[in-house]
Amino acid sequence: MPMDATSQHFLMCRPTYFAVDYAINPWMDPSAPVDTDLAIQQWEQLRQAYRDLGHTVEEIAPVPGLPDMVFAANGGTVIDGKAMAVQFRDPQRADEAPAYRAWFEAAGLELHDPKHVNEGEGDILLAGEYLLAGTGFRTAHASHAQLQEVFGYPVITMQLVDPRFYHLDTALAVLDERTVAYLPEAFSPGSQEVLRRLFPDAVHATMVDAMVLGLNAVSDGQHVVLPTQATGLAAKLRDRGYQTIGVDLSELRKAGGGPKCCTLRLRQGGK
Ligand code: ARG
Repeated sequence: MPMDATSQHFLMCRPTYFAVDYAINPWMDPSAPVDTDLAIQQWEQLRQAYRDLGHTVEEIAPVPGLPDMVFAANGGTVIDGKAMAVQFRDPQRADEAPAYRAWFEAAGLELHDPKHVNEGEGDILLAGEYLLAGTGFRTAHASHAQLQEVFGYPVITMQLVDPRFYHLDTALAVLDERTVAYLPEAFSPGSQEVLRRLFPDAVHATMVDAMVLGLNAVSDGQHVVLPTQATGLAAKLRDRGYQTIGVDLSELRKAGGGPKCCTLRLRQGGK
Protein backbone atom coordinates (compact mmCIF):
# COMPACT_ATOMS: atom_id res chain seq x y z
CA MET A 1 0.00 0.00 0.00
CA PRO A 2 1.36 3.44 -0.89
CA MET A 3 2.03 5.87 1.92
CA ASP A 4 0.53 9.34 2.21
CA ALA A 5 1.54 11.84 -0.41
CA THR A 6 3.94 14.50 0.81
CA SER A 7 4.21 17.86 -0.83
CA GLN A 8 7.60 18.27 -2.48
CA HIS A 9 9.99 21.07 -3.21
CA PHE A 10 11.79 20.78 -6.53
CA LEU A 11 14.44 22.63 -8.51
CA MET A 12 14.14 22.62 -12.31
CA CYS A 13 15.97 24.27 -15.22
CA ARG A 14 14.12 25.31 -18.40
CA PRO A 15 15.69 23.63 -21.47
CA THR A 16 16.17 26.97 -23.27
CA TYR A 17 19.55 25.87 -24.64
CA PHE A 18 18.77 22.15 -24.91
CA ALA A 19 20.56 20.30 -27.72
CA VAL A 20 22.36 17.04 -28.32
CA ASP A 21 25.77 18.33 -29.37
CA TYR A 22 27.92 15.57 -27.91
CA ALA A 23 27.46 11.94 -26.85
CA ILE A 24 28.30 11.01 -23.25
CA ASN A 25 25.76 8.18 -22.97
CA PRO A 26 24.37 5.66 -25.50
CA TRP A 27 21.06 7.55 -25.90
CA MET A 28 22.73 10.62 -27.40
CA ASP A 29 23.16 10.89 -31.17
CA PRO A 30 24.45 14.34 -32.19
CA SER A 31 23.49 13.68 -35.82
CA ALA A 32 19.77 13.24 -35.00
CA PRO A 33 17.54 16.34 -35.11
CA VAL A 34 16.36 17.87 -31.82
CA ASP A 35 13.39 20.22 -31.50
CA THR A 36 14.25 22.61 -28.68
CA ASP A 37 10.81 24.29 -28.72
CA LEU A 38 9.14 20.91 -28.31
CA ALA A 39 11.55 20.07 -25.49
CA ILE A 40 10.51 23.30 -23.75
CA GLN A 41 6.80 22.51 -24.20
CA GLN A 42 7.28 19.00 -22.81
CA TRP A 43 9.28 20.34 -19.87
CA GLU A 44 6.52 22.87 -19.14
CA GLN A 45 4.04 19.99 -19.02
CA LEU A 46 6.21 18.24 -16.46
CA ARG A 47 6.38 21.42 -14.37
CA GLN A 48 2.58 21.76 -14.64
CA ALA A 49 2.11 18.14 -13.51
CA TYR A 50 4.08 18.94 -10.35
CA ARG A 51 2.11 22.13 -9.73
CA ASP A 52 -1.17 20.25 -10.21
CA LEU A 53 -0.01 17.83 -7.50
CA GLY A 54 0.61 20.76 -5.16
CA HIS A 55 4.40 20.61 -5.30
CA THR A 56 6.59 23.72 -5.28
CA VAL A 57 8.89 24.21 -8.26
CA GLU A 58 11.85 26.56 -8.08
CA GLU A 59 13.86 27.39 -11.17
CA ILE A 60 17.53 27.95 -11.82
CA ALA A 61 18.45 30.16 -14.80
CA PRO A 62 19.68 28.13 -17.78
CA VAL A 63 23.17 28.97 -19.03
CA PRO A 64 23.94 29.23 -22.78
CA GLY A 65 26.33 26.56 -23.99
CA LEU A 66 25.22 24.03 -21.35
CA PRO A 67 22.64 21.92 -23.25
CA ASP A 68 22.33 19.28 -20.49
CA MET A 69 21.68 21.78 -17.69
CA VAL A 70 17.97 20.91 -17.94
CA PHE A 71 18.87 17.73 -16.04
CA ALA A 72 18.71 19.38 -12.63
CA ALA A 73 18.95 16.07 -10.76
CA ASN A 74 22.64 16.14 -11.65
CA GLY A 75 23.08 19.55 -10.03
CA GLY A 76 23.52 18.28 -6.48
CA THR A 77 22.19 16.27 -3.58
CA VAL A 78 20.09 18.17 -1.04
CA ILE A 79 19.01 16.51 2.21
CA ASP A 80 18.18 18.01 5.61
CA GLY A 81 19.21 21.49 4.49
CA LYS A 82 22.67 20.31 3.40
CA ALA A 83 23.74 20.48 -0.23
CA MET A 84 26.54 18.47 -1.75
CA ALA A 85 27.68 20.14 -4.95
CA VAL A 86 28.70 18.02 -7.93
CA GLN A 87 31.73 17.17 -10.00
CA PHE A 88 30.91 15.84 -13.47
CA ARG A 89 32.79 13.04 -15.15
CA ASP A 90 32.63 14.73 -18.54
CA PRO A 91 34.17 18.14 -19.34
CA GLN A 92 31.11 19.04 -21.46
CA ARG A 93 29.01 19.31 -18.28
CA ALA A 94 31.68 20.66 -15.89
CA ASP A 95 30.45 24.28 -15.96
CA GLU A 96 27.00 23.27 -14.70
CA ALA A 97 28.49 22.48 -11.30
CA PRO A 98 29.34 26.07 -10.24
CA ALA A 99 25.97 27.32 -11.51
CA TYR A 100 24.07 24.89 -9.29
CA ARG A 101 26.52 25.45 -6.43
CA ALA A 102 25.82 29.19 -6.54
CA TRP A 103 22.09 28.51 -6.43
CA PHE A 104 22.47 26.34 -3.30
CA GLU A 105 24.60 28.99 -1.66
CA ALA A 106 22.06 31.72 -2.40
CA ALA A 107 19.33 29.45 -1.02
CA GLY A 108 21.19 29.36 2.29
CA LEU A 109 21.94 25.63 2.23
CA GLU A 110 24.93 24.21 4.10
CA LEU A 111 27.36 23.60 1.24
CA HIS A 112 29.75 20.69 0.82
CA ASP A 113 32.11 20.29 -2.13
CA PRO A 114 32.69 16.90 -3.70
CA LYS A 115 36.14 15.37 -3.53
CA HIS A 116 35.46 12.90 -6.34
CA VAL A 117 33.21 12.57 -9.39
CA ASN A 118 29.65 12.87 -8.10
CA GLU A 119 26.65 13.50 -10.37
CA GLY A 120 24.15 14.34 -7.66
CA GLU A 121 20.69 12.90 -7.47
CA GLY A 122 21.19 11.18 -10.79
CA ASP A 123 23.16 8.62 -8.80
CA ILE A 124 22.24 9.36 -5.17
CA LEU A 125 18.71 8.53 -4.06
CA LEU A 126 17.35 8.63 -0.53
CA ALA A 127 15.08 5.63 0.06
CA GLY A 128 13.73 5.71 3.60
CA GLU A 129 16.76 5.54 5.87
CA TYR A 130 19.19 4.47 3.15
CA LEU A 131 21.11 6.56 0.72
CA LEU A 132 21.32 4.43 -2.42
CA ALA A 133 24.40 5.43 -4.38
CA GLY A 134 25.09 4.33 -7.93
CA THR A 135 28.52 3.82 -9.42
CA GLY A 136 30.03 2.13 -12.45
CA PHE A 137 29.64 4.86 -15.04
CA ARG A 138 29.51 8.33 -13.51
CA THR A 139 29.66 8.83 -9.74
CA ALA A 140 32.94 7.48 -8.36
CA HIS A 141 32.76 4.82 -5.69
CA ALA A 142 35.12 6.97 -3.57
CA SER A 143 32.43 9.67 -3.32
CA HIS A 144 30.08 7.30 -1.49
CA ALA A 145 32.14 7.53 1.71
CA GLN A 146 31.98 11.32 1.57
CA LEU A 147 28.21 11.22 1.09
CA GLN A 148 27.79 9.06 4.18
CA GLU A 149 30.00 11.42 6.18
CA VAL A 150 28.17 14.56 5.04
CA PHE A 151 24.59 13.35 5.31
CA GLY A 152 24.84 10.70 8.02
CA TYR A 153 22.67 8.15 6.24
CA PRO A 154 24.03 4.67 5.60
CA VAL A 155 25.18 4.62 2.00
CA ILE A 156 24.42 1.49 0.02
CA THR A 157 26.57 1.14 -3.08
CA MET A 158 24.69 0.08 -6.20
CA GLN A 159 26.87 -1.24 -9.00
CA LEU A 160 25.43 -0.36 -12.42
CA VAL A 161 26.45 -2.68 -15.26
CA ASP A 162 24.52 -1.63 -18.40
CA PRO A 163 25.76 1.57 -20.12
CA ARG A 164 22.21 2.45 -21.20
CA PHE A 165 21.38 2.80 -17.50
CA TYR A 166 24.37 4.95 -16.65
CA HIS A 167 22.82 6.84 -13.73
CA LEU A 168 21.04 5.14 -10.83
CA ASP A 169 17.86 7.12 -11.57
CA THR A 170 17.58 5.48 -15.01
CA ALA A 171 17.43 2.02 -13.40
CA LEU A 172 15.67 2.59 -10.08
CA ALA A 173 12.84 4.79 -8.82
CA VAL A 174 12.08 5.44 -5.16
CA LEU A 175 8.32 5.05 -4.71
CA ASP A 176 8.08 5.76 -0.99
CA GLU A 177 10.08 5.21 2.18
CA ARG A 178 9.71 1.46 1.95
CA THR A 179 9.56 0.64 -1.72
CA VAL A 180 11.44 1.08 -4.95
CA ALA A 181 10.93 -0.01 -8.55
CA TYR A 182 13.96 -1.17 -10.52
CA LEU A 183 15.32 -3.06 -13.49
CA PRO A 184 17.20 -6.01 -11.94
CA GLU A 185 19.51 -6.63 -14.90
CA ALA A 186 20.85 -3.07 -14.76
CA PHE A 187 22.67 -4.06 -11.54
CA SER A 188 25.53 -6.42 -10.70
CA PRO A 189 24.53 -9.77 -9.12
CA GLY A 190 25.64 -8.56 -5.68
CA SER A 191 23.67 -5.33 -5.95
CA GLN A 192 20.60 -7.28 -7.09
CA GLU A 193 20.88 -9.36 -3.95
CA VAL A 194 21.18 -6.24 -1.79
CA LEU A 195 18.08 -4.80 -3.44
CA ARG A 196 16.13 -8.02 -2.81
CA ARG A 197 17.19 -7.93 0.85
CA LEU A 198 16.36 -4.27 1.43
CA PHE A 199 13.20 -4.09 -0.67
CA PRO A 200 11.52 -7.49 -0.79
CA ASP A 201 8.30 -5.86 -2.04
CA ALA A 202 9.94 -3.89 -4.82
CA VAL A 203 8.31 -3.52 -8.21
CA HIS A 204 10.42 -5.17 -10.92
CA ALA A 205 10.38 -3.30 -14.21
CA THR A 206 10.89 -4.85 -17.62
CA MET A 207 13.50 -3.87 -20.19
CA VAL A 208 10.71 -2.52 -22.42
CA ASP A 209 9.69 -0.01 -19.74
CA ALA A 210 13.29 0.81 -18.84
CA MET A 211 14.08 1.53 -22.51
CA VAL A 212 11.58 4.41 -22.51
CA LEU A 213 13.20 5.60 -19.25
CA GLY A 214 10.11 4.50 -17.34
CA LEU A 215 12.13 4.18 -14.14
CA ASN A 216 13.15 7.81 -14.37
CA ALA A 217 10.08 8.57 -12.30
CA VAL A 218 9.21 10.99 -9.49
CA SER A 219 6.98 9.83 -6.65
CA ASP A 220 5.52 11.79 -3.75
CA GLY A 221 4.63 8.53 -2.02
CA GLN A 222 1.26 8.27 -3.74
CA HIS A 223 1.44 9.85 -7.19
CA VAL A 224 4.12 8.70 -9.59
CA VAL A 225 5.05 10.97 -12.50
CA LEU A 226 6.63 8.85 -15.25
CA PRO A 227 7.05 8.80 -19.04
CA THR A 228 3.73 8.13 -20.82
CA GLN A 229 5.43 5.45 -22.90
CA ALA A 230 6.08 3.28 -19.82
CA THR A 231 2.65 1.68 -19.92
CA GLY A 232 3.59 -1.69 -18.42
CA LEU A 233 5.27 -0.12 -15.42
CA ALA A 234 2.38 2.32 -14.94
CA ALA A 235 -0.06 -0.61 -14.83
CA LYS A 236 2.06 -2.41 -12.24
CA LEU A 237 2.22 0.73 -10.11
CA ARG A 238 -1.55 1.19 -10.29
CA ASP A 239 -1.99 -2.43 -9.20
CA ARG A 240 0.01 -1.52 -6.11
CA GLY A 241 -2.29 1.41 -5.40
CA TYR A 242 -0.21 4.29 -6.76
CA GLN A 243 -1.74 6.91 -9.01
CA THR A 244 0.27 7.37 -12.18
CA ILE A 245 0.68 10.57 -14.17
CA GLY A 246 2.20 10.15 -17.62
CA VAL A 247 4.30 12.91 -19.17
CA ASP A 248 5.79 12.81 -22.66
CA LEU A 249 9.44 13.90 -22.58
CA SER A 250 10.40 12.24 -25.88
CA GLU A 251 12.63 15.17 -26.95
CA LEU A 252 14.63 15.14 -23.72
CA ARG A 253 14.99 11.37 -23.96
CA LYS A 254 17.24 12.00 -26.97
CA ALA A 255 19.81 13.15 -24.39
CA GLY A 256 19.10 10.16 -22.16
CA GLY A 257 16.89 12.03 -19.68
CA GLY A 258 13.35 11.72 -18.33
CA PRO A 259 11.18 13.31 -15.62
CA LYS A 260 13.46 12.50 -12.68
CA CYS A 261 16.56 13.78 -14.49
CA CYS A 262 14.78 17.14 -14.89
CA THR A 263 13.96 17.31 -11.20
CA LEU A 264 16.17 17.91 -8.17
CA ARG A 265 14.47 17.26 -4.86
CA LEU A 266 15.19 19.98 -2.30
CA ARG A 267 14.92 18.42 1.11
CA GLN A 268 15.29 21.48 3.32
CA GLY A 269 14.72 19.59 6.50
CA GLY A 270 13.62 16.06 7.31
CA LYS A 271 12.55 13.95 4.38
N1 ARG B 1 22.87 13.89 -21.30
C1 ARG B 1 22.92 13.84 -19.88
C2 ARG B 1 24.15 13.06 -19.42
O1 ARG B 1 24.47 12.09 -20.07
C3 ARG B 1 21.69 13.21 -19.33
C4 ARG B 1 21.62 13.24 -17.86
C5 ARG B 1 20.38 12.61 -17.32
N2 ARG B 1 20.27 12.82 -15.94
C6 ARG B 1 19.98 11.87 -15.03
N3 ARG B 1 19.78 12.22 -13.81
N4 ARG B 1 19.95 10.60 -15.36
O2 ARG B 1 24.80 13.40 -18.47
